Amino acid sequence: MRDKKSLKSLNTFGVDVSATDIIYIYHDDDIIKFLSSPEKESSFYVLGDGSNVLFTKDYDGVILKMETKGIEIVSQTEEKIFVKAKAGEDWDEFVRYCLVHNYCGLENLALIPGKVGSSPIQNIGAYGQEVRNFITKVYAISVSNRSLCTFENKDCQFGYRTSIFKQACKGQYIITDVEFMLTIDGTPDITYDEIKNRLSMIDSVKAQDVYNAVSYIRSIKLPDWRVSGNAGSFFKNPIIPVSHFTELKKKYPNLKAYSIGVDECKMSAAQLIEFSGWKGKKFRDAGVHPAQPLVLVNYGNATGKDILDLATYIQNDVYNLFQVQLEIEVNII
Ligand code: FAD
Ligand code: EPU
Repeated sequence: MRDKKSLKSLNTFGVDVSATDIIYIYHDDDIIKFLSSPEKESSFYVLGDGSNVLFTKDYDGVILKMETKGIEIVSQTEEKIFVKAKAGEDWDEFVRYCLVHNYCGLENLALIPGKVGSSPIQNIGAYGQEVRNFITKVYAISVSNRSLCTFENKDCQFGYRTSIFKQACKGQYIITDVEFMLTIDGTPDITYDEIKNRLSMIDSVKAQDVYNAVSYIRSIKLPDWRVSGNAGSFFKNPIIPVSHFTELKKKYPNLKAYSIGVDECKMSAAQLIEFSGWKGKKFRDAGVHPAQPLVLVNYGNATGKDILDLATYIQNDVYNLFQVQLEIEVNII
């Protein structure tokens, strides 16, 4: 019998669980090899940096840890550049590589933990941009027949913190590469309030300024997962009909929402959690961060179940108070 492999350092919650085995994927061939082996018949789970997962118990199967590296220029026009990166590239290192070469667009997504190959899964987003605005193609290997597949942007069914890879095709493909279309020497997006305010003193804002502003805001707002284990926002910001929001506003005049089209608006889940009294509260060793209630933290020895139980209590209280269902963003395993 093989020794179990610890996953404690492979998930940013720092939950102390193990797997039957961990296979490090350095080449796409390693994926094909694994999918052709008898081990494929046992359970397996693809992991990037484990910054958007919550293990609720030991994993009875094999972890495929993505470590493939490489960045390549696919083509270029005077204004646009098509850049392809391997799934195991570190996301923020890739963003910085693009900035150094003057390929603009990804700077709003600075410092998001994780790998390039995970970025399409939940269509990572921050500070006014989502990665779907830059992805042209996602390359993947089909788990069922090992064929190489290409998903065009429109095939990915991107939405707010979701895609086909998190929904209909969950677990069916292993992403190998992602291709992005970036703008050479482009004008950065500073529409997000906090970015606009922070850069208001600069006349001609450069992509690097946005990268620096986002990095600064993130370092202040989000707890460092190396200190207090977390996976960023635990819940999505709920999207509700404007009519529902108007009713809530009568009772809670300070409630915030941003309109999405005419009929819907996006509320701040952090505010709902705070209003329901959970900000800063603890359940066993799991807690709601005192400054950023959308982030659930592991204060040291919380189990995945403790964190999930805490999430359920919060969901129930928020629902009872506001009739709004908080949806979990993190992948529960
Ligand atoms: P993992 O957590 O390892 O995996 C996530 C999911 O993707 C799993 O279901 C996994 O099976 C699947 N997966 C991973 N790689 C592949 C692959 N190659 N093929 C198929 N499936 C794969 N997210 C945001 O959108 N915006 C933010 O601002 C943000 N801020 C964060 C801040 C902090 C402090 C933390 C800890 C997290 C934050 N996140 C944010 C969440 C997280 O960083 C992203 O979801 C990131 O893309 C996860 O990358 P990962 O490599 O760690 O993925
Ligand atoms: N908002 C706007 N425009 C603005 C300002 C805010 O639409 O100019 C919206 C946001 O989109 C959000 C709400 O107002 O719906 C609250 O925004 P806040 O800045 O307080 O951020 P948050 O809700 O704490 C969200 C993301 C973060 C992301 C930040 C910055 C979710 C679940 N969380 O956090 O993503 O970094 O905005 O854009 O959407 C993550 O997904 O793990 C994560 C950390």
